[in-house]
Amino acid sequence: MTDGAGVRWERRGSIALVTLDRPERMNALSRALVARFGEIGDEVQADTDVRLVIVTGAGDKAFCAGADLKERAGMSEDEVRALLLAYETELGWLETSAVPTLAAVNGAALGGGLELALLCDFRIAAPHAVLGLPETSLGVIPGAGGTQRLPKLLGEARAKELILRAVRLTAPEALILGLVNQVLPKSENFLHEVMAWAEPILNGAPLAIRAALGAIRGAATRELREGLALERQAYEHCLQSEDRLEALAAFNEKRKPVYRGR
Ligand code: COA
Repeated sequence: MTDGAGVRWERRGSIALVTLDRPERMNALSRALVARFGEIGDEVQADTDVRLVIVTGAGDKAFCAGADLKERAGMSEDEVRALLLAYETELGWLETSAVPTLAAVNGAALGGGLELALLCDFRIAAPHAVLGLPETSLGVIPGAGGTQRLPKLLGEARAKELILRAVRLTAPEALILGLVNQVLPKSENFLHEVMAWAEPILNGAPLAIRAALGAIRGAATRELREGLALERQAYEHCLQSEDRLEALAAFNEKRKPVYRGR
């Protein structure tokens, strides 16, 4: 499950933990890393026991410092174009994964690093994290979806402000804007705290978690009536499940439900 491409993954219980592992370059997105990230997506999604995906960075300085600016200096225009496309094809599985995805932002998340985090359903930050899309200060624009996903998340005015001013936000500032879901207190083991935050997701009925996630994601591209139809359709998966009956039995027997994902 590990290799020299600068990203690895492992199972921690029912969590797939994906770690960007190039600390000497602040976990920047090299071409090899992006390619391997896509393969990891296939592996993680083939593992039916995975209930949550967490993406994080090695060390405590950076989640990901974005494009590998040292590698980028030696790339042709066509190579850069190909890499922009690869951001979409190789990283995009985070956004469509059947199970929730979470960016554990353990340090700087800049440029493509923040764009990677924006693909996830949740962003949980360490107190010292800095977040921003500084591309316009480097003569380019966000190229891994930042101009499209940031306005959807924060609204157009905030997105213009952050991208055109190339702002670097502290974690508490990012929390106020809604860019991150939570800033965790300073801790010796950030990842451990992130997993504790995510525990209710793992305790939920697996089919219900997937169904709710699909319905919420679907809201972004639908009119309300269409969205309500999608919700009913998603509800149907739960209605026919053994876990729904187990939840009702457990409630009446005053015990914790034991979900089987069926
Ligand atoms: N690509 C390649 N290497 C990078 C990098 C990147 N995006 N970001 C940092 N590095 C390298 C540095 O060049 C340095 O290597 P060196 O010691 O060989 O010179 C090493 O990582 C450590 O970086 P340094 O800046 O000394 O660490 P820091 O803790 O002071 O700051 C950051 C960390 C992430 C805040 C800072 O490195 C930074 O701002 N990086 C640029 C991020 C950026 O603009 N990304 C957007 C790309 S569009």
